[in-house]
Amino acid sequence: MIPVRHLDDLPLGESVRIDTAPPIAVLNADGELYAIDDTCTHQDASLTDGWVEGCLVECPLHAASFDRRTGAPARRRARRAVRTRPVTVANGTVHVHHTVEEGTAA
Ligand code: FES
Repeated sequence: MIPVRHLDDLPLGESVRIDTAPPIAVLNADGELYAIDDTCTHQDASLTDGWVEGCLVECPLHAASFDRRTGAPARRRARRAVRTRPVTVANGTVHVHHTVEEGTAA
């Protein structure tokens, strides 16, 4: 589990990037917390810099969209899903459940 920040520091509508390998975008959308791969599967844009619209996260570069609940591509450009990760809050701190991927361990 990776501590992200205190829940009070991730207000509704805000996103934060955590520099894991690969980086993860943590979103507070509609009062629910989501964690998805930060890097768009179309090219190399940060989804943390994108926009949340309903259940979709829109990439800021070419407007691909991903379902923030499943990671599935929803429209335009991207054909591959981004991964999602469980998010929990413990003692007011947001945590993302993340495992080191094969080939990235030191
Ligand atoms: S980089 Fe995200 S849509 Fe092109």
